Amino acid sequence: MPTTTRAAEFRTSKDLPLLRRTTTVAGTNGQVVIRHLNEEVVLENEAAHLFNKLRPELSGASAIASIAEKVAERPARVRALLEQLEKAGVVSFQAGGNEGALMSGMEFYELHRRHCNAWLEDIYVHPLWEKITTGKATRAQVLGFAFEKYHYIEAAFEHMGTAAANATPEMMPHLARHFIEEYTHGDIYRKGLRTLFPDDVILRSQPLPSTRALVNYLNETAQRNSFAYYSGNELLQMTENTGDQSAADAVNDFYDAMRKHYPYTDKLIDSFIAHTRADQALEHQDAFRLMCKSVPPLTRREVNDALNVARNMAEHLLLFLDGIDTFYAKFATVPRLPCDPLSE
Ligand SMILES: [Fe+2]
Repeated sequence: MPTTTRAAEFRTSKDLPLLRRTTTVAGTNGQVVIRHLNEEVVLENEAAHLFNKLRPELSGASAIASIAEKVAERPARVRALLEQLEKAGVVSFQAGGNEGALMSGMEFYELHRRHCNAWLEDIYVHPLWEKITTGKATRAQVLGFAFEKYHYIEAAFEHMGTAAANATPEMMPHLARHFIEEYTHGDIYRKGLRTLFPDDVILRSQPLPSTRALVNYLNETAQRNSFAYYSGNELLQMTENTGDQSAADAVNDFYDAMRKHYPYTDKLIDSFIAHTRADQALEHQDAFRLMCKSVPPLTRREVNDALNVARNMAEHLLLFLDGIDTFYAKFATVPRLPCDPLSE
């Protein structure tokens, strides 16, 4: 993990150890297994015993000296284990007030990818996918999925324009280009939906509140910080990328199963695939790398902000899928239309 190790070198103090929040810890027979992202650390015997004593204190709020005193251990021994765990990537030391450059844009790119790949795992195992591929999803869930996807893509018109308007000089050309390329992509999905619904109905349809939450979070971040905004957008973009063969096969298998169980979605699926191909032809899978290449070195605050937005985006994406899964399971009418005095 060269990126995290290099980032650690910039820290002024190594005194406030934190067991990374996304770790899971399991233990049996004098052994402790710590997992973080896709890595695993195994401690045995004395190291496992010491870790178990230290574990409740690793919140990033206590200094090593006071932790050692509390657990009745030598500070040097406590520090030695924690520094080993830092090298393994499962413990970090909370930052001091150093606001200088922490890492380059390209170092952030690598760090971002590692984290986003792990955060996206919950998305890829969402129950909605299994319901669609096995034919268990209702007609409303399948069409609701298509409509909410349309509303989400259509909203690029909102946040990408805002992000370009608020961009730093380095981010501006990338975001302006991306906005121009992307703002009509909602029409690709609308074309698919038009094979099943009148255009007027599609244009008047209302997104779920959970879909709006995802769009609103993109809007909010686009107004605030253009780099953090795209760091979050990139997590969403990563779900569209079919760059390597196994990802492409997984997407194709999903669409094949959907066509088989829901033959009326044939043209809709064509529009999903047309959109993925349009993004690929525009090389959108490469957009964030080019942005990271262009930006000046990032401060700790900027790194934290951009990483935090990506993580929050994964949570919003999960909420987006939950919304489709739970709402359309209960309400069979698709699309959702706006209320008026005659409908209510
Ligand atoms: Fe697109």
